[in-house]
Amino acid sequence: MKRIIIGISGASCAIIGIELLQELRQHEDIETHLVITKGGEVTIKEETDYSVEEVKSLADYCHDVENMAAPVASGTFEVFGMIVAPCSMKTLAGVANGFCENLLLRAADATLKESRPLVLITRETPLSTVHLKNMLAAKEAGAVILPPALSFYNKPQTLLDSVRYIVGKALRALGIKAKDFKGWGEQK
Ligand SMILES: Cc1cc2nc3c(=O)[nH]c(=O)nc-3n(C[C@H](O)[C@H](O)[C@H](O)COP(=O)(O)O)c2cc1C
Repeated sequence: MKRIIIGISGASCAIIGIELLQELRQHEDIETHLVITKGGEVTIKEETDYSVEEVKSLADYCHDVENMAAPVASGTFEVFGMIVAPCSMKTLAGVANGFCENLLLRAADATLKESRPLVLITRETPLSTVHLKNMLAAKEAGAVILPPALSFYNKPQTLLDSVRYIVGKALRALGIKAKDFKGWGEQK
C-alpha cells in the first residue's frame, strides 16, 4: 500500500486537487491522506460545485490543517510522496523556507527532509521575483515544480480533459500512471 499525502491550498484550480483524489480512488494500492488549508476551503467553495465535506470524503484519511499531531506531521510516518494541488504562492513560500505554520506545510517539510518526492502544482500568474526565487529554492530543496500548464498534443476537448492531463503529469512525477493518461508517443 502506497500512502500519498494530498495538500489542497488556496490557489485557483482547486478542481485539480479534487480530480487527483478522484483518480487515486481508482488505485487500490494507494492510500490518500488529505490536508486542506483554510484558503483551500475558500477556493473549493468559490470555484467548484463540491462542498468541502464532499472533497474530504474522497480521501481515505483527512487531517485537520491545525492538527500538528496528525500522523503526516512526522517523517516517521512512512509515505510514498506528496502532491500539493494546487499550491498557492503563500504555501510555496512556506515550503521554500521551512516555515511549518500549518499541517500541510509541516507534512511538506517532513517529505523533503526524508528525501521523498514532493510535487508542487504552483499556480499564479504573472510571477513576481519573490515567487520565482521561492520556486528555485523549493526545487533546490528537492521539490518538483509543476505549474498547471496547458498541453495541446493530447487534443483536449474540455477543460476537465486539461485538468486530468495535469493530474496525470503530477502522478507521473511520482512514478504512478493515471488510468487514462497518455504521454507523447503513447497516443495510439
Ligand atoms: C478565488 C481565489 C483564488 C485565488 N487564487 C490564487 C492563486 O491562483 N494563487 C495564489 O497564490 N493565491 C491565490 N489566492 C489567494 C490565496 O488563497 C491566499 O493567499 C491564501 O492566504 C493562501 O493560503 P494557503 O496557502 O494557506 O491556502 C486566491 C484566493 C481566492 C479567494
